Amino acid sequence: MNKTVDEITGGRRMRRMRRFDWSRRLIRENHLNIDDLVWTIFLCEGIGICEPVETMPGVECFSVDVALEKVLYAVDLGIPAIAPFSREPSSVKMENGAYITNPDNLVNRFIRKLKKLAPNIGLIADAALDPYTTHGHDGILRDGVILNDESVEMVAEGALAQAKAGADIIAPSDMMDGRIGAIRNRLDTNGFQDVAIISYATKFSSFFYNPYRNAIGTTNVLNEDKNTYYIDPANADEAMREAEQDLLEGADMLMVKPGLPCLDIIQRLKDRFSVPIFTYQVSGEYAMLRAASIKGWINGEQAMIETLLAFKRAGCCGILTYFAVEAAKKLRVIA
Ligand code: PBG
Repeated sequence: MNKTVDEITGGRRMRRMRRFDWSRRLIRENHLNIDDLVWTIFLCEGIGICEPVETMPGVECFSVDVALEKVLYAVDLGIPAIAPFSREPSSVKMENGAYITNPDNLVNRFIRKLKKLAPNIGLIADAALDPYTTHGHDGILRDGVILNDESVEMVAEGALAQAKAGADIIAPSDMMDGRIGAIRNRLDTNGFQDVAIISYATKFSSFFYNPYRNAIGTTNVLNEDKNTYYIDPANADEAMREAEQDLLEGADMLMVKPGLPCLDIIQRLKDRFSVPIFTYQVSGEYAMLRAASIKGWINGEQAMIETLLAFKRAGCCGILTYFAVEAAKKLRVIA
């Protein structure tokens, strides 16, 4: 005799509470809010520029004046923070990336202006040398070798310049050893004890960064991978050690990058450490979703929300994403 479903399940039916929209809403465990979104934007030199990024349809590179306008709109939408990245002209690039320390570089000029116009939006400054080096690496390169300690020195000085410009959070993303402690020390000894650090502690050597490299113009100069400093995507325990070390050195928060390929890392960090965990839904993740959506192969908007929600479910308290404005608009309609 075949068993009935009730005999098989013992009368337990998971679908009871999935029957109606109201009941699904009532038992929903995770919610995506505008408060979860950090908008990642690209800056370039010039005036009145809003240039499409070829590898990321729907994303544009803004000159500072345009970026300020766009960010004010994001503030109106309720987005709590932004993270600017710069596309630097080759004229400022140097072997050692020293332009990161210039108080008037693109990012610092933008931060200063934004903080005057909209002091209440959080500003997360990415601290890494790659936009500023002639070779596109995050560290100083000599004879084919990335020089860790010299790079740390430079990036700490760069972080100090960002703090002076008005950055609220420094986000070191170069994966050099000792950078968190060095930056914390540099900030503290210069009166910036209140500037926080969110460490890209678990940054994997990922192929999902390529559209970003195209956006900031480092694709053509970078002719190698970054495997000697980013984490091998095969390793999770190593990512845990990296996170632990960065917390010991003084990181206030942790970042996982890229996002969707690393949901397991997010969850492990969340389980192990009581610090806010963020993720960066990177350019390749954006490009994938966008391209499939343009082709009509997926409903881009729904897939976008689903990925953002997945980050929340995994344990993130916030997400850096190129979709922030789009997602915020959608969430406003739903709310
Ligand atoms: C490097 C940096 C990267 C990204 C932002 N800063 C990675 C890289 O180019 O190696 C990638 C962001 C993205 O893909 O959206 N410090």
